[in-house]
Amino acid sequence: MTYDNEVSITMSSRSQNEAFARVAAAAFAAPLDPLLDELTDLKTAVSEAVTNAVIHGYENKEGYVFITFRSFGDEIYVSITDEGIGIDDVEQAMLPLYTSKPELERSGMGFTVMKAFMDEVNVTSVPGSGTTVEMKKAIKRQSQKQDQNCMFSSLGDSTQQ
Ligand SMILES: Nc1ncnc2c1ncn2[C@@H]1O[C@H](COP(=O)(O)OP(=O)(O)O)[C@@H](O)[C@H]1O
Ligand SMILES: [Mg+2]
Repeated sequence: MTYDNEVSITMSSRSQNEAFARVAAAAFAAPLDPLLDELTDLKTAVSEAVTNAVIHGYENKEGYVFITFRSFGDEIYVSITDEGIGIDDVEQAMLPLYTSKPELERSGMGFTVMKAFMDEVNVTSVPGSGTTVEMKKAIKRQSQKQDQNCMFSSLGDSTQQ
């Protein structure tokens, strides 16, 4: 598939770079004119995956996190890769409330949040080699947003009567 746009970022596995990833996600999505909710969902999902790469993948040791944003039509694709410890059992890792680090007071809800906020989440991992999280989200078409705006303005009209 040829994408409309593509941006890749390589960042050190530092938790402060999570903020950078959030801003990058917002900047990449901006031309698709997302709703505020869509933007918040995307940024949150990206930051959960980046945090996982830093905390779990590299266990706060040195390494690189690779992020690629792609867009095609009204769809945004994000992939987040680390070359860290990997995940032995991906199915178990994705269960709500499952965490391998309860001592760090992790909530175990990172993957659940990603699945709730994105349309698709796919995790591939090789123990000892690393993990890739691929996510997709469709940004609502402008026409649908205009329909919504019409609905809101007609609601506004009716309250004025
Ligand atoms: N990039 C990763 N590398 C290694 N393990 C990971 C990675 N991402 C997630 N995991 C594993 O999946 C579990 C669940 O992740 P998540 O749902 O985000 O919960 P939490 O981060 O709160 O533990 C983690 O506790 C960890 O064991
Ligand atoms: Mg997490």
